[in-house]
Amino acid sequence: MGLGSSYFIRTFGCQMNKYDSERVAGLLQAEGLSPASSPDEADVIVFLTCCVREGADERLYGQVASLKRLKTAGRSPLIAVGGCIGQRDGEALQKRIPHVDVVFGTHDLHELPRLLQRVTEESRPQIARRDSSSMADFTRVVPERREHAFHAWLPISVGCDNFCSYCIVPFVRGREISRPLAEIDDIARALVADGVREITLLGQNVNSYGRDLYGEQRFAEVLEAVAATGVSRLGFATSHPKDLTSATITTMAQTPAVLRYLHLPAQHGNDEILQAMRRGYTQAQYRALAAELRAQIPDVTLSTDLIVGFPGETEAQFEDTLELVRAIGFDQVFTFIYSPRAGTRAASLADRIPRDVALERFERLTELVQHSAAGRNAALLDSTQSVLIEGPSKREPALMTGRTRGYKLVHLKAPADLIGQERAVRITAAHPFYLEGTLA
Ligand code: SAH
Ligand code: SF4
Ligand code: F3S
Repeated sequence: MGLGSSYFIRTFGCQMNKYDSERVAGLLQAEGLSPASSPDEADVIVFLTCCVREGADERLYGQVASLKRLKTAGRSPLIAVGGCIGQRDGEALQKRIPHVDVVFGTHDLHELPRLLQRVTEESRPQIARRDSSSMADFTRVVPERREHAFHAWLPISVGCDNFCSYCIVPFVRGREISRPLAEIDDIARALVADGVREITLLGQNVNSYGRDLYGEQRFAEVLEAVAATGVSRLGFATSHPKDLTSATITTMAQTPAVLRYLHLPAQHGNDEILQAMRRGYTQAQYRALAAELRAQIPDVTLSTDLIVGFPGETEAQFEDTLELVRAIGFDQVFTFIYSPRAGTRAASLADRIPRDVALERFERLTELVQHSAAGRNAALLDSTQSVLIEGPSKREPALMTGRTRGYKLVHLKAPADLIGQERAVRITAAHPFYLEGTLA
């Protein structure tokens, strides 16, 4: 029996899930399915889920539960839930939402077509959830259907060994496994030959690349090798401050293809909290890294993640986070309220911060961050930036969006045939979260 003619994928969470959704799309296209514009029209509906914070968790369960209406309306699309909640909850998810047909974990993505097929043959739900996998499993040839022809994700490692005390990722993505350098090189060459202009290297901690495979960190070499393929733009995420080396900063500075952008999550500004988070650096060490980065790459865009309301956080400790933001002047900050995740170390800590206190701190931090981001963007007014034009803006379809070499978002008017091209753009207006520009 076939799987039908169309599929719909809904993706939550981080870039690894975005990449995984391109792999799922490729797998389903190989089965003869094509994309549908909404779940209501699809024969197969796939969710790639995130459980890094509670909010995403609840939304997912709500959204999947609401699809029951499709099952009773005469049609019977197949519903599959994968990603990090699939990995965490496995069979329990299917028990909780009985109209789910397939649950698959983060190590079982390549099994999806076979699992869907078995549902149609056996008329019962299928669960695939292994506890770990190897790089060979991950790279098992899976066709990809890239969202943009000009852009590709390239995972250089999967999983994480850091076990920051608040974080569930190591539990749902497994231990860190690096991909051999020669293989990364081959893939990058093939992508460039296929017309890709921008590659984003992916890993939960790209800076520790190679430690498991070669006994030492070799991320700087990955940057050099991929840049040598001739790709126009090379980005990467995410960097961990404890593993960011001077060699990597120097390579970034000296390699023109590497974007002038670093996302370097600080998480907090207070040394005791950083220690309780098991982050492995102090505020002073973080500031020294930022200073080294700005000395070597003066126009670098620096963004970060910050958590407020970690267990036991005092007002004075929170103010150290504000101080860090003031001292560094980030271009962009992703702010989160601490969310206890079952199974992590921090979840068993006493001294939870009351919701209203956390919210009040969150608002103060957000205000400061907006001020900082607005100031950094205003400094680009009247400058000319090289912008890769990505496609129509989701909010204003009459406009295009693009990214500078510092990865700043720009809204501009441009003809559709410039999508995927890099052009000089004059910056005409600055806002906290984006710039406006005109083709120069
Ligand atoms: N590997 C990446 C991404 C981790 S998840 C990294 O290390 O940066 C993305 C962000 O979510 C983290 O940087 C952190 O700021 C936030 N986060 C993770 N767990 C959280 C939790 N339990 N509560 C609140 N924020 C959390
Ligand atoms: Fe989570 Fe820390 Fe690993 Fe990032 S480095 S994924 S925050 S455990
Ligand atoms: Fe979320 Fe999983 Fe990524 S928990 S942040 S989708 S690794």
